[in-house]
Amino acid sequence: MNHKSILIAIISFCLSFQLSAQNKTIDEKVDSVLRLMTLEEKVGQMTQYASFWSTGPKSPEGDKLKDIAEGRVGSLLNIVGTDKARTMQELTQKSRLKIPLILGLDVIHGFKTTFPIPIAEASSWDMNVVEQSARIAATEASAGGVNWTFAPMVDITRDPRWGRVMEGAGEDPYLGARVAAARVKGFIGAGLGSKDAIMCTAKHFAAYGAGIGGREYNSADMSERTLHEIYLPPFKAAVEAGVSTIMNSLHDLNGIPTTGNSYLVRKVLKGDWNFQGFVISDWGSIAELMTHTYVKDSIEAAWVAIHGGTDMDMECRAYRNQLPALVASGKVDIALIDDAVRRILRKKFELGLFGNPYKFCDEGREKQVLSNPQHRIIARDVAKRSIVLLKNTGSILPLKSTKKIALIGPLATSKTDMLGSWSLAKFDDGEVATLYDALLKRVGKEHLVYAKGCGVEDTSRVGFNQAIEAAKAADLVVVSVGEKREMSGEAASRSNLQLPGVQEQLIKALYETGKPVVVLINAGRPLVFNWTADHVPAILYAWWLGSEAGNAMADVLFGDYNPSAKLPITFPRNEGQVPIYYNHHHTGRPPLGDSNSAEYKGGYLDLVYSPKFHFGYGLSYTTFEYSDFIITPLNDDDNLIKVSFTITNTGKVAGEEVAQLYIRDRVSMPVRPVMELKGFTKLMLQPSEKQIVEFILNKEKLSYYDKDMKWALEPGTFEIMVGAASNDIKFKVNFEVPKQ
Ligand code: GLC
Repeated sequence: MNHKSILIAIISFCLSFQLSAQNKTIDEKVDSVLRLMTLEEKVGQMTQYASFWSTGPKSPEGDKLKDIAEGRVGSLLNIVGTDKARTMQELTQKSRLKIPLILGLDVIHGFKTTFPIPIAEASSWDMNVVEQSARIAATEASAGGVNWTFAPMVDITRDPRWGRVMEGAGEDPYLGARVAAARVKGFIGAGLGSKDAIMCTAKHFAAYGAGIGGREYNSADMSERTLHEIYLPPFKAAVEAGVSTIMNSLHDLNGIPTTGNSYLVRKVLKGDWNFQGFVISDWGSIAELMTHTYVKDSIEAAWVAIHGGTDMDMECRAYRNQLPALVASGKVDIALIDDAVRRILRKKFELGLFGNPYKFCDEGREKQVLSNPQHRIIARDVAKRSIVLLKNTGSILPLKSTKKIALIGPLATSKTDMLGSWSLAKFDDGEVATLYDALLKRVGKEHLVYAKGCGVEDTSRVGFNQAIEAAKAADLVVVSVGEKREMSGEAASRSNLQLPGVQEQLIKALYETGKPVVVLINAGRPLVFNWTADHVPAILYAWWLGSEAGNAMADVLFGDYNPSAKLPITFPRNEGQVPIYYNHHHTGRPPLGDSNSAEYKGGYLDLVYSPKFHFGYGLSYTTFEYSDFIITPLNDDDNLIKVSFTITNTGKVAGEEVAQLYIRDRVSMPVRPVMELKGFTKLMLQPSEKQIVEFILNKEKLSYYDKDMKWALEPGTFEIMVGAASNDIKFKVNFEVPKQ
């Protein structure tokens, strides 16, 4: 063959290989790589190390960079910046197979632009807002070198003592499932492979929010029915929305640490739900199987974890150190390794990393995206929609004119605290808009005086007098109190939910000046502030709102935005009531309403039974009327009933209402909750505007796990309820479900 014909042969081979490569499905590409891998390289893909900072107990450094260069690392976490990402990907190109890294980070509520903490966004009950927040976070993270977030955290919790209540969507499985799906859609955007899509993770699988006593990392113990009806729905919704990975957790569920719980992962997640992504352990949780005293050594830990369905080992090296020998000795079937590696490689192909390991390392894009002013505008919009108006007696809000304002309290000037836990405050938090900044911009320094009054946690009242004097010299007092950033979040369970320090005493002292008082509370969890709630005329619960916190609070204070958020979790009167939640069972001797415990009734001797603020509660600057309820039985094979009604804005300003649909199965085996949220809608109404709302109840929404744990629709009487809150039902009617 002459040179020309050889050249033609080579070109046609490359073209056909290229074409065949393009035509190959991702699974074929995965298998073509898997076939080339040694056992050490396969186990390497199942290994993740932390890089630039720890978000868990520090583990020995080892030689991570050498491992990466030898193709023995599948992923790194805690990297920020295209420069660092590029450096790590360049290392992978020194390895034999040049398999790129997935770079993960806890992008929980924003990357460069910090959005409200997740429970605040859930308070908006607006899935477009939730999705948009995740979309901006993904756009920024993907421009900043990150292609995988360990979010959304979808743990349901009924216990505000648990610090990570700030990270989820509250107590309800239906709302939690809708929020989980919205977050996943936001992170993935147009789909993995697009430049601003990142992998996302539903965590912590499962029932991590049910730790006994609200204590972080503590055991959870529950029936299979409670697990499936309360704690699993948000995970299932995330899987159905296309979540890329699942992270297990650091606790044990019914005595089995979730990292080795094959019922959860192999039976439910990968079996019943047919989950095709991969499962990553939580920080060191494989090694912690020993601490749980579930296994005796690291060899057993690796064996239990791989059989339990954990595909990647975060930061404990059990897989790296133990799996090769376990496979060689026949104690672990190579098929388990190959399944895990396939799942991991599939995501790397979907992300487009094999095509371009530097896909997320574009410095030009990083500069352009991370300085986009539009992101803060959206963050401000999300934040104002996350603020709950708890009280507004005498319509003291919105603030009507630029009278002289005394701004008092330790959080009014705080930047880092407004970012909240799990924010990447490693960025310059100098850009955070505080309440003080926002008010100064609005009313000018001649109408604003500030006094701190006290610290968040300290017990000193030395600042009270100055605060009182400032209040006396003003027309109106705005008080800014709550928690510091580190008082909620991981490993931040607290037994005392009262407003910390002497903050409530400060509020009382200011109230006693006789000036009108407005209180804003910034916190990561429901707090207890009964005196304030009973006396102060206006209260806004503003959670932690992120980069635009102050501006969003000012927008609501001055009525530029009419607050529309509602509580996604019940607020107790004190810690003694916890756990307290709206979807409880009726019991055989229910407490008599709000009376103290009557003879042989199920209340408390020393406290009324009801919570301080109910699930689904939140006020507006306008009022809404619910009318014209119509129930229409439906005869198609899935939908059973249509509920329609009219909502009218009967006030003077435009506003949004969250109408909620609840059901109750009146007689059932097993007993069912007295209420279950099964639908909601949020609508904007101009003054006097009417809108007709329709809810459809299908069989799925009326079904539950029967006494044999079979998912079933039992015939019988159901109560259908529509309301503005779980304790504000506007309409209730019985509906008969016929025998199917
Ligand atoms: C922590 C958290 C988990 C987080 C991980 C990585 O242990 O429990 O939510 O994603 O570490 O930072």
